[in-house]
Order: sequence, then C-alpha cells, then structure tokens
Amino acid sequence: MKTYRTDTLIVGGGLSALVAAYQLNAHHHVILITKCGERDSNSYMAQGGIAATAPADDDWKAHLDDTLKGGHHYNDLESTKYMIKQSASIIDWLISLGAPFDRDDSGAVHLTREGGHRISRILHAGGDATGAHLVNHMLGLLKDSVETHTNTQAMDLLIDGGRCIGLWARDEHDEMVMYLANQVIIATGGSGQVYSPTTNNASVTGDGLAMAYRAGAALVDMEFVQFHPTLLSKDGQTFGLVSEAVRGEGAKLVNQKGQQMMAGVHELADLAPRDIVAKTLYKAKMAGDDIYLDITSVKNFELRFPTITKLCHQAGVDLSTGLIPVSPGAHFLMGGIRTDLYGRTNIEGLYACGEAACTGVHGANRLASHSLLEGVTFALNVAETIRKQPIVQTPEIPRMIECYTEIDCPEKTTIQQLMFQNAGIIRSKESLEELICWLENLLPEELNTMTCQPSKEAMEKINLLTVGWLIATSALKRTESRGSHFRSDYPEKNDSEWLEQKIVRERRLVE
Ligand code: SIN
Repeated sequence: MKTYRTDTLIVGGGLSALVAAYQLNAHHHVILITKCGERDSNSYMAQGGIAATAPADDDWKAHLDDTLKGGHHYNDLESTKYMIKQSASIIDWLISLGAPFDRDDSGAVHLTREGGHRISRILHAGGDATGAHLVNHMLGLLKDSVETHTNTQAMDLLIDGGRCIGLWARDEHDEMVMYLANQVIIATGGSGQVYSPTTNNASVTGDGLAMAYRAGAALVDMEFVQFHPTLLSKDGQTFGLVSEAVRGEGAKLVNQKGQQMMAGVHELADLAPRDIVAKTLYKAKMAGDDIYLDITSVKNFELRFPTITKLCHQAGVDLSTGLIPVSPGAHFLMGGIRTDLYGRTNIEGLYACGEAACTGVHGANRLASHSLLEGVTFALNVAETIRKQPIVQTPEIPRMIECYTEIDCPEKTTIQQLMFQNAGIIRSKESLEELICWLENLLPEELNTMTCQPSKEAMEKINLLTVGWLIATSALKRTESRGSHFRSDYPEKNDSEWLEQKIVRERRLVE
C-alpha cells in the first residue's frame, strides 16, 4: 500500500483547514487531503459573512450577551468569551493578509446585521460571497506550497497505543493509501447531508465525525442541529441558501396573504435567532402556508446579493415580483468532536477545528456568521499548539488496519428524508425511536469487526448512518426543548435538569 509520511495531516478543505495549513506550512511538512475538489466545502458556500466586535458602538460584552441569548445560555462560557474577545484581532489578522472585505464609500468595512445580532457587526465580501472570497484568498496565499491531495477520501483513523498516527484513505485512483503523521487535524465540516433539504455542499457527509467516533473520540451536543429558515424553494425543490443578510438589509418574511410571519413572535422579529424563525416557518408550512421573503425594501438587491440573484435566475424565480419563495432546511451542526480551546480531542495526536469540532461557543443555537469566526479562531489555536510540539519521527507503519464489511446501504435520499421527518426541526420520542430502530438495523453491530474495505460511496453512507444515529440517540436522551432541539413531547426548557448537562457520545474500544 502506498504510504505518505508527514508532520501534520489536515483532513478537509474549508477555511479552518486552510488557515491551519497556512500557519503550519512554514514550520514543518503538511499534507492536506480533501474528498472532492479544493472548493467543495461549506466555507466556500458561506454567504452572509463573519461577525466581529469591531464597530465603535459595539463592545465584547454586548456581543457576548447576544451570543449567549441566541445559544439559550447553553454555551461554554470560557470558549465563547474567548472567541468573542478575539474576534476583532481575527479580523485584523485577515485584513493584514489582504482579505477582500466589502467597504463603503468612505473606505470603512461595510457592516450588516443578521439574526440574533442586535447591531450591525457582520463583515462580508463579494456582497454575498464571503466564503468564496476568503477561501480563494487563502488558496492564493498558499499557492501550491502545501502538498494537497484532492479527491482523496479519508476512511478511518489509525490509532496505535491510544495515539492517532494517521489514517487510511482511498486516493483519486480509488486505491487504498496510508498516511502516517505526528498530528492529524480533522476539519471536514459538519454533516448537513444527513438531511434533505440542506444548504450544505454535497461532500459534507459527516465523514470526520463518524471516523473520529469509530476511533474512540468523544463527540458532544449532537442533538443540536441548526435549520436555516430560508432556502430558496420552488415547486417542492430547494436551490440553496438565501442569506439572513437579506433580512439584515430589510427584507421581511411574509405568507401568501402578505402577512408578516415574525411580527409579534420575537422582539427582533425577522432578525430573531435562527431556531425561532425556522420553527415558526416550519409550523406555518405544515399548516399549509407558502412563505416568501419580501425584498421590496432592499436597496440595489442585485448588486448587494449577486450570488442569490444568480440562484433565483437559475431556479426561474422572477425578482421583479419582489418575492422569493423560501422554506427551512438543515444548515449547521452545533455539536461535534469535543475539543478544548486548543483544538485538542481526547485522543493524543488528534485535533479538530471548524464545524467538525464542538468548542461549545454556539450553545444550543449558533448566531449568524459565527461559523467562519469560530473556524479561523480555533484553527489558529490548533496551529499554534502543534507548532509548540517537539518535532519527532513520524511513526512506523502499524501492524494492522481495521477492515470493514460492505453493508446493505439504503439510498442516500432515503436516509436524508427519514432524518428530516423523524429528527428534524420538531422531534418526539416516537419519531426518534422509530428512526433509531431503522438505523440500528442497518449499522453493523460491531464497527470494528468488519471484514472488507468498502467503496467510497458505501463509506459515505456508513458515515451518514453513524452520524444520523448519533444525532437521533442524543436527541432522544435530551428530554427538554432548547434552541435548535425541539421536542414536541417536551416543549419546555428544563434548566434544572439540562442546562449544565451534556450528552457525550464516546465509543468504548475493545483493546
Ligand atoms: C447566512 O448567510 O444566512 C448564513 C450565514 C451563517 O450560517 O452564519
């Protein structure tokens, strides 16, 4: 089997992976592997922007207050404070690298508002193409200096003596290859593709999460899945995200009668935190309403939102009507691989950052434009931590690698639809138990006693089923409603039992 050796192996191609690669590459040898192309990530698709405590009329305490309120006070206070306090210097760092943020006529960065933020503190680039501009900029800075293997699917981590020493993967020729590394960083994003509809890139199938779980890493908060209220939706099909920044610039959510959907629901109305808006729209849709973004009061819509304008043209939505049809869909995972401030997991040598990691900064519901901020903040910490590690010889080839059996996989769309119906915006004991039973019939009982190597497609489905199972079983355990986790059979928050309680998923490995 072809074997690559490196100091640090980064798995993923989004913003946090690129930031970590940029910081580490000058220091030692880095290999970055991505399952698809360099631009196939959720970061690349991020529209709205990156939030920071920057303007003169904002301070970190106000920003923190919004974040905690939006997260239903379930956030990890230490990491949340840390990220918010760092946010202004993160932006300064990005600007010092030449990040192309949009500016107003006076040359100052233009700031907008999004859900849950009480003031305008969101920077953006290319109007509504912030992620694409930041990813392209980082790729430009890296040029070809980092050894990058595209179309290479990580299959499973290699653990030796409790330490992560690399992984095995299928390369672009569909050959099995091995990577041996002193450190492995999982930056594979979340798992939006476990649901349909979703805003997520087709490659985001929870691979890093499932792989980490199989290796014995602790995952946490998997019941907290964020649904974005506004996916462009026509004739029962969705066509991608319509950024919350559209509401930040004045659009309103209305039904087919022109009635405002968010009036009287929350003090921030259309800019209420996402969980509240998504749940309101979902209930209205279930009751038969059609939902639209009324954009008539948004100035220069096509100039300010070129990506969304293009999406509307592709979907055949006529913007001159002033209405964009929308519906909610899966967007972001607040849970993930449990990490500390430095991106360390419970497995030595294994780090995680970006959406794959759970730092606790989002609590039960992430505020808009905190994903890119979290990704950059903690990728810098991971890189700094790894840089301080003594350089050692890359490990020897392990004696044995885990093998997997082919399982009888259902269609991806079947998994996605069942997840949306049974573990979506509204869940219950009954819907979750039915789903778990279905998943458990499909998942191999002993993940570590399988007998052959699956194809890329089969591995992706095993990952989707695994992450689906982690979400559903965690959601069943949490017998309350909080933020993005809404149980119809437990509709209230239960602070005395659940505010401090985390649901941790950790597979006990048989040595
Ligand atoms: C959006 O632009 O509405 C999404 C931004 C985000 O998820 O933070």
